[in-house]
Amino acid sequence: MHKEIHEQTLTIKNTLKGRSTESSVLLHGLLEYWEEIYKAEKIYITACGTSWHAGLIGKNFIERFAQIPVHVEYASEFRYNHSIMDNKTVVVAISQSGETADTLAAISKANDFGAITIGICNVPGSSVSRETNCGIHTRCGHEIGVASTKAFTSQIAVLYLLALKLADSRKEISKSEMKKYLMRASGAVQKDIKALFRKEKSIKKIAEKYQNASDFLYLGRGLNFPVALEGALKLKEISYIHAEGYPAAEMKHGPIALVDKNMPNVFIVPKDKTYEKIISNIEEIKSRKGKIIIITDSKDKILRDLSDDLILLPRTNQYVFVILATIVLQLFSFFIAVARGCDVDQPRNLAKSVTVE
Ligand code: M6R
Repeated sequence: MHKEIHEQTLTIKNTLKGRSTESSVLLHGLLEYWEEIYKAEKIYITACGTSWHAGLIGKNFIERFAQIPVHVEYASEFRYNHSIMDNKTVVVAISQSGETADTLAAISKANDFGAITIGICNVPGSSVSRETNCGIHTRCGHEIGVASTKAFTSQIAVLYLLALKLADSRKEISKSEMKKYLMRASGAVQKDIKALFRKEKSIKKIAEKYQNASDFLYLGRGLNFPVALEGALKLKEISYIHAEGYPAAEMKHGPIALVDKNMPNVFIVPKDKTYEKIISNIEEIKSRKGKIIIITDSKDKILRDLSDDLILLPRTNQYVFVILATIVLQLFSFFIAVARGCDVDQPRNLAKSVTVE
């Protein structure tokens, strides 16, 4: 798992490689169906586990850039829901392994309804690759660790490209904006991830401090809500500590009842339009004596004052921030699990690929 976390400096580069020019996105795997795809009236994204979290980020990207309504559904639910689909609907199935039974069942339902199915998958030749109309490979190399890490960030990179390509074809974005967003995607990520790994020792130290906690809350807003969900899932999977992810503001509608002096709360706090609001969410937890761990790209004193521990990320844009915060949370879970003596590569009760419904 540690090796795969570290590979992310290269895997994201591989995912993006050759898939854009200066101001346009090239996704050859979608070419045959592109006309129907970009004219879609709505999109469903379906997946399980970590891939479902990537789907939530994809929804944000596609709605923001391309202005197409997106519904994200667990594959296991999608199969039985009364989803409204026809040949103007696109269904994007995301799966690292390409063999998840629930996701395959969701694809089969979408195909039966005549929707255009796109697979985002890491394994060429897998069932997801074969059973969808078209697709995009994440190209992050074989992922062995049961807890998905590098596949998740590559899924995010692919969804970013897909959203920009949709926006371009639908004329929702200018060429100069495309250029700006594509430049940000390629150059910044690698450099920032390398800078982040230089902080690994301090992340380890913070993780070890909390190794005996029995419950965690992970809180983020907007793009960072799915990052919070993913951070909580990673911790549960490999350390067996109970953890929940929430949109930061939802915490006051119930989960705050859990907070006491023993409860660590991980806040993901980019300096964006929700910054002030999230500070008041932190203050609410602080006043109930909860422990505050902050992941941020802001050097503001108020965050240092409010936090018990703070991980400062390089100042970057909001898309790269999502990747960096995710990697911090992967390392954080990893070091807690190792400190607790858990087998991080083969966690109990889990399989790399879930082939039963
Ligand atoms: O291979 P898939 O992406 O379809 O797998 C979906 C989930 O089973 C998977 O993401 C699972 O949640 C991982 N263990 C997460 O680390």
